[in-house]
Amino acid sequence: MNDMKPINVGLLGLGTVGGGTLTVLRRNAAEITRRAGREIRVTMAAVRNLEKAREFAGSDLILTTHPEDVVNNPDIDIVVELIGGYSPARELVLQAIANGKHVVTANKALMAVHGNEIFKAAQDKGVMVAFEAAVAGGIPIIKALREGLTANRIEWIAGIINGTTNFILSEMRDKGLSFDTVLAEAQRLGYAEADPTFDVEGVDAAHKLTIMAAIGFGIPMQFDKAYTEGISKLTREDIAYAEGLGYRIKLLGIAKRTDKGIELRVHPTLIPAKRLIANVEGVMNAVLVKGDAVGATMYYGRGAGAEPTASAVVADLVDVTRMHTADPEHRVPHLAFQPDALSDEPILSIDEVRTSYYLRLKAHDKPGVLADVTRILADLDISIDAMIQKEPAEGEQQADVIFLTHQAVEKSINRAIAKIEALPSISGKVTKIRMEELGSN
Ligand code: HSE
Repeated sequence: MNDMKPINVGLLGLGTVGGGTLTVLRRNAAEITRRAGREIRVTMAAVRNLEKAREFAGSDLILTTHPEDVVNNPDIDIVVELIGGYSPARELVLQAIANGKHVVTANKALMAVHGNEIFKAAQDKGVMVAFEAAVAGGIPIIKALREGLTANRIEWIAGIINGTTNFILSEMRDKGLSFDTVLAEAQRLGYAEADPTFDVEGVDAAHKLTIMAAIGFGIPMQFDKAYTEGISKLTREDIAYAEGLGYRIKLLGIAKRTDKGIELRVHPTLIPAKRLIANVEGVMNAVLVKGDAVGATMYYGRGAGAEPTASAVVADLVDVTRMHTADPEHRVPHLAFQPDALSDEPILSIDEVRTSYYLRLKAHDKPGVLADVTRILADLDISIDAMIQKEPAEGEQQADVIFLTHQAVEKSINRAIAKIEALPSISGKVTKIRMEELGSN
């Protein structure tokens, strides 16, 4: 078997993930060849700094500072895109496809926003686009959703799919620190980007969620319809109150099938502290998938970093190598469902989402205040599950009151909040955090 000619790989980017990919491919070369059936050889890489790259890569690799040289090189079979961002990644990937090359990418933003266009181009050309590394780094969640769970009707997916925010929330809870303090620490440790907006505002998680939902439900990529709310407004008080009530707050990406359509949302979420996923701490990622046949399954591991992400890139390289000679019709479809069998089930607006809620308000500690609040909730058909009132802080007249509601539709909750905020006995804004049970039933 190993007398087959090697498959030639060109890397676009030799940074953290590109370097990890080269290292893993070289270190495990014999094992990978035994698995793939032929040698997978990186023959070319587009880099920013030739000198630095030469030192790292050694002499058996053609280096260029022009990524077009890689995508236009007729000797390259697979292009691995590790540049990130929308452009020029999109143009380079489309050019590689036009040249008849398979593509492996770790680029979640590209897949979530331009995936439909890229898959169409790949399908027309009969080439593969593989993107395991785009979601949750080293965790083989794409493989699980696309192949391992293929018997199931997927009911929901819920994941901690951004390590930076999970680190921040873990530290805020553990050490009682504020968001800003921990963010600065995450930046110092090199977890968060210098501009951490995509991480902390939930955009990175929404990219990954969009991809998982497309594969789980057989729908096109619809990043523009995902609801995205980050963690920058979360307070340590809410984290502590949630803990006192037996919950943890995590930034979750949730994709859920309902009778009315698909919920696609990223936001801070209270989840019962006893759930396994509530105990995923620091930069680790985890994804829960509920299938109708299998029940709830969970996938846990490192969501970023050189070798964990390389683990996913190399797995795609092996897959593509194995399927390279197969008739395109017999390969696993990009989105798990046949391209002409994608569904147009609508994505629900956040107003239509139905879940339960944590509401915190500041109320004057006097008769009738809670009665006013509970009347507003009752009038809107919102049922209260639990309520606690905290002692007012030293010298303060107002107390924090927390309500946990049963399931309600978001627009009713918003209406209730507007009315509660208008009460003279309530000061400031009501804090609303969504809750999920994530049970196996
Ligand atoms: N910024 C991402 C995270 C890296 O924090 O998880 C992996 O996509």
